[in-house]
Amino acid sequence: MHRLTVLSPAKLNLVLDVVGKRPDGFHELRTIFERISLTDQIILTRNKTNKISIRCAHPHVPRGPGNLAFKAAMMLSKDFSISEGLDINIIKNIPVAAGLAGGSSNAAAVLAGLNRLWQIGLNNAQLVDYAARLGSDVAFFLYNSPYALGTGRGELIKPLKINTKLWHLLVTPRVKMLTKDVFTRLKLKLTNKKDNVNILLPFLRKGDLTGLAGALSNGLEPAILSLRPDFIYIKKKLLDAGAIGVCFSGSGPSVFGLAGSQKHAESLRAKFDRRYTQSFVVSTL
Ligand code: C5P
Repeated sequence: MHRLTVLSPAKLNLVLDVVGKRPDGFHELRTIFERISLTDQIILTRNKTNKISIRCAHPHVPRGPGNLAFKAAMMLSKDFSISEGLDINIIKNIPVAAGLAGGSSNAAAVLAGLNRLWQIGLNNAQLVDYAARLGSDVAFFLYNSPYALGTGRGELIKPLKINTKLWHLLVTPRVKMLTKDVFTRLKLKLTNKKDNVNILLPFLRKGDLTGLAGALSNGLEPAILSLRPDFIYIKKKLLDAGAIGVCFSGSGPSVFGLAGSQKHAESLRAKFDRRYTQSFVVSTL
């Protein structure tokens, strides 16, 4: 095989509880991931150079070691003594540094894709091990499950058998927000012991959208808003427009509004000014 094309989806966090700070500086999380239909495409092409190169039309996607997909390919190439070259072409649709794990998903797609293209023969547990070394959000994308519980840094994944298909309007302001900056602003209130994951799960299983709306939560919201207090307007505007519930995803600044159908999500979309925000009608994938 000379070339392989892989899809690389984004995620949302329906719940994100920060449960503590670890000695290694990372935070201990409990989160529910949802895989969504907003996807990048990655084309992996073998070549006869001995170099790994990234191609991407998006100006904010790093072309070197700052790119997790590049790092993923470098790791496998080194560990398995691959001497040929590789071209990684990323067709970017997922906003960058937006709380949607686009870069992490690209890395997972490259790990799984190269395992086939280079015929390395790693099993899923071994791929997950590579994923965890690359970043906290990479492992989720290797499980082929629409929903999962994430613990640890977010890299310990338990796939969840849930059949509910959700619709959202996803709104992303046209600014980057770095995960590290958001975690740095976080003031941990360790008295808050509410188990938001287990509060949300029964509503998600039943497809109870009203219950689900009340159970969406993100412990990073105060830190996101301390960086950009004005972004609260996105939540307000989505609710005013008729979203059933609203929540920031990951470390922001993306916000998703819960909708009852594709049509409902499309009706919410009309309310947003495209100069300042990008918006996407998405569903569970
Ligand atoms: O793992 P990832 O590269 O996505 O993390 C980026 C940064 O976000 C980390 O360097 C760390 O500062 C912060 N982070 C954290 N706790 C987590 C995940 C990320 O403090 N569970």
